[in-house]
Amino acid sequence: MSKAKIVVTRRWPDEVEARLHDRFDTVLNEADEPMSNEQLRAALREADALLPTVTDRVDAAVLSEPDRRARIIASYGVGFNHIDLAAAEAAGLTVTNTPDVLTDCTADLAITLLLMVARRTGEGERHVRAQAWSGWRPTHMMGTSVTGKTLGLIGMGRIARAVAQRAAHGFGMRIVFHDPFPPDAAQLEGLNATACKSPEAVFEQADFVSLHCPGGKQTYHLIGAAAFAAMRPDAFLINTARGDVVDEQALIEALEKGEIAGAGLDVFEHEPRVSPELLGLENVVLLPHLGSASRETRVAMGMRVLENLEAFFAGDVPRDKLV
Ligand code: DGY
Repeated sequence: MSKAKIVVTRRWPDEVEARLHDRFDTVLNEADEPMSNEQLRAALREADALLPTVTDRVDAAVLSEPDRRARIIASYGVGFNHIDLAAAEAAGLTVTNTPDVLTDCTADLAITLLLMVARRTGEGERHVRAQAWSGWRPTHMMGTSVTGKTLGLIGMGRIARAVAQRAAHGFGMRIVFHDPFPPDAAQLEGLNATACKSPEAVFEQADFVSLHCPGGKQTYHLIGAAAFAAMRPDAFLINTARGDVVDEQALIEALEKGEIAGAGLDVFEHEPRVSPELLGLENVVLLPHLGSASRETRVAMGMRVLENLEAFFAGDVPRDKLV
């Protein structure tokens, strides 16, 4: 039986690419440059499966390709706001993602950002590297303590709960959260977590606000001027979710006006562009979308795509079918 043909839009870890080559007629993007809309449409025309990542925009225009051969879009990543799911479903395409395997890794990074921004570690490192450090003194670069503080979570899915677990057990933090679709009591057990009826109720109480909601139309600019006004002036915002959940211009204004104390950001509204104003602010920690970027996790994500594809081409329902 001939192998199904797949197009992979970016380079993946070697061992995953080797497995893909074993099982499928695999076309890699050797240059590892983002593919254009026309290249994505060509892939849909020429292959049985498209394997995009979270930075490929698989929108209605791409999906409207009339001579489509592809029957499945097996995406590498948990987020799926880069794919027009309604258009994919209407076109009869199956779409899968890679949940679970990146939960711990992303939660670790949210805690990294929280600690970095609270304890001014980015600033401290720049200070040492610039050879500006003149020695220890009681008032030098005082940050904010984390232990025992209140962590506010917007969204209480898998990653948020993994963050809560680390914060509650590692740092004795109290957790408050808002989620329109809250998890059941069993999933909250041992997390020291209290549900709030609105995001505002979270903002009022939290020393740290960490975002864990999906991106897309529903949450676009959820965190804007009104949210910053509702947050405490000593609060920090942490974003490992999606950049456009935050109105980046409103965030800059809130930071400049001292409406909040700082921000730890792994995602940006116009990635990979970062607003120049953010680059100049010392009370902001900036990372290049590293949430799932551990070697083990990136391999596991690839293997999960492989599992979804194998199920699909064997005629089964893939474990991570979205539509
Ligand atoms: C995702 O998977 O959605 C992340 O943003 C990339 O790991």
